[in-house]
Parts: sequence; structure tokens; C-alpha cells
Amino acid sequence: MTQLIAVLPGDGIGPEIIEQAVRVLTALGESFTIEQQPVGGAAYDAAGHPLPPATLDLARKADAVLFGSVGDWKYDKLERALRPEQAILGLRKQLGLFANLRPAILYPELANASSLKPEVVSGLDILIIRELTGDIYFGQPRGIRTAPDGVFAGAREGFDTMRYAEPEIRRIAKIGFETARKRRGKLCSVDKSNVLETSQLWKDVVTDVAKEYPDVELSHMYVDNAAMQLVRAPKQFDVIVTGNMFGDILSDQASMLTGSIGMLPSASLDESGKGLYEPSHGSAPDIAGKGIANPLATILSAAMMLRYSLDKPAQADRVEAAVKSVLAQGLRTADIYEEGTTKVGTTAMGDAVIKAM
Ligand code: NAI
Ligand code: MG
Repeated sequence: MTQLIAVLPGDGIGPEIIEQAVRVLTALGESFTIEQQPVGGAAYDAAGHPLPPATLDLARKADAVLFGSVGDWKYDKLERALRPEQAILGLRKQLGLFANLRPAILYPELANASSLKPEVVSGLDILIIRELTGDIYFGQPRGIRTAPDGVFAGAREGFDTMRYAEPEIRRIAKIGFETARKRRGKLCSVDKSNVLETSQLWKDVVTDVAKEYPDVELSHMYVDNAAMQLVRAPKQFDVIVTGNMFGDILSDQASMLTGSIGMLPSASLDESGKGLYEPSHGSAPDIAGKGIANPLATILSAAMMLRYSLDKPAQADRVEAAVKSVLAQGLRTADIYEEGTTKVGTTAMGDAVIKAM
């Protein structure tokens, strides 16, 4: 059976960067079926909703979803449920995507873009896996109330609940081990088990899941130390797996080690390995329609899709090697341009990647 890829271009630069990624996928010569539907503001304009039934149906039946980006100032006045950004939240929920994979890769050619010294960060290739659906962001009870006891009894207090159920930890741990197995075989589980019960359970469960993966080297680290290590010696990591809140913070921190938002792909996976792949950046309305957006984050998202959902690691390698090759040739879109390199537009960058493949 041929694999079905749902392509959802979205708004702003979404259609421009997606076009290049689709050309790259097509150039691989595999027998994919690629179907396209509008999403976000584009879908609101066409069908009155950011995630219309036809778009959701396509995403559901596809083997993987390639997503551009959504959002534009012109939709700011819409009620929350109709805003473009609701499409991505809706897709995560409807497709049960609970694992967010965010690589931080710094190609040696772009080492000057980082705020860290080149020798610390050049050649960085790490992956942060953030659990997406549990933790303190969703735990009940939560609220603002009059404090019933303690030193501040009678004062207003806010409270949230950090919660993780064992099966929830187990499934994200499995994604961590499976992913590490497809990379350099090292997994670091990040928690705060010296003070949090949730983290103690997290650590116990991850340690238990590790028995099924004797080929993966597991380590544990407290989150505060992980934050330090990420800027001190980020190359010590391969894959980091952590909860929703720690992952939110650490993945943003790690992405900035590379200094180039136009280069960073991401994936959100469900239990079966099906996933939604998108660049980490947004719809960049300030440069939309100018033909200057960097398509590499989206092309690299397509490579992740080949590796993690479509079981085509050799083709993923081919795409990633082609991206490295165009950077080595000195080709740069405006966002990563520096003196002495050759500035190219969105389409020319796509052309170069295809040629390099
Ligand atoms: P943004 O990531 O769209 O843009 C930030 C800056 O980076 C801008 O100066 C932009 O021109 C530049 N940039 C981003 N991607 C680029 C690329 N591929 N090539 C060259 N330059 C690039 O973030 P911003 O401005 O905060 O948000 C713009 C819109 O995107 C908003 O409506 C926001 O809600 C939405 N957004 C959507 C996301 C998604 O679709 N998953 C994620 C983040 C924001
Ligand atoms: Mg964040």
C-alpha cells in the first residue's frame, strides 16, 4: 500500500516553504500519495473554521501530516475558537499527539549564529522530547482561592497540580528509547525527583522501561542541572526525555543554542508512531509572499517524517545530507546570510536541495 501524506500548508510563509518540502519529497521517487487541505486562517477564509472536517479527515487517515504554519494578525479579532492557532491544538488533541520532538542542530557552517562559542556548540545535534498532554499545565485541582491554612491563611493563593499517571510516563519513555535507538543510542531522562513525587514516579517508570531497551544507555539528570549542562556542554546529550513543563523550557532553551529559527524542524507523535511534522517557527507574516523564507526547517521536518513515521531512514539521511551539502556550498537564505556566502530565495534553496540529493 502506498503511504498517504497529508499536507497542510496554512498561512503566511506556510505555502511557500511547504511547496519546497513537497518538491523534495516528490524528488525522492517514492510512491507516496500526497494530498493537500487548507488549515488555519486559510481554512477559515475558505470554510469558516481553522480545522474544517475535510482537513481533519485527511489528517486522520494519513500515515503522517506535514504542516506549514498558521497565524496572521488579520485574524486577531476572531473569537478564540476560530483563531488559526486553534488548528494545531485541535490536531494534537484529535490525533492523540502526546510526544513533541524538537531537535537542536547546529551545522558547522552556521556556528557563528549561536550565542555560544563555536567550539562548544559547532556540530551540535541533540533532540529534546517533551511530553505534551499531562503535567502541571493540565492537572486538577487548580485555581485561585483564599488560602485555607499555612502562614498565609486568609490571603489569596494560586495553586496548580503536577500529575503524571504511570501509563502516561511509560508511553513517552518508550518514544524516548525508540528515538534514541534510531540515533546515537543515549537517552537522558530529566526530572526533579529530589523534591517532586511526580518526578520520583517518572524516574522509577523510565528505569523500568529501560529493561526493554538494553541497547540504549539511560542516564538521569535533575532539571536545574540539565539547564546548566545545556549551555555548558550541550554536545554531551543525544536524546533528552522530560515532562511537559520542563520540556517546554528546555526545548526553547536548546533551540536558541543554534540561533537560527528558520532551520529547526519538529515532530509530534502518537502511540503508534504516526505524527505531525512542522517547522518550529511560525508563519512569519512580515516576510510572507516575498519569496525569501527559509524552507530548510520544513524540508528537515519532512526528513523527520521519513525517519519516524514512514520508516524510510535512508531517504531521511539523503534529505539531511543534501541540506548539509547546500550549506557547505555557501547557499543561504536571508535569515542565515553572512558575508562571503551566497544569498538565495525560497525556491532556489529548494532547487539546490533537490540537486544535492
Ligand atoms: P515567527 O516564527 O513566525 O517569526 C519570528 C521571526 O522569525 C520573524 O521575524 C520571521 O520573519 C522570522 N522567521 C520565522 N520563520 C522564518 C523562516 N522560515 N525564514 C526566515 N525567517 C523566518 O513568530 P511570530 O512572529 O511570533 O509569530 C507570527 C505568527 O505565527 C503568529 O500569528 C503566531 O501565532 C504564529 N505562530 C504559529 C506557529 C505554528 O504554526 N505552529 C508557531 C509560532 C507562531
Ligand atoms: Mg514554549
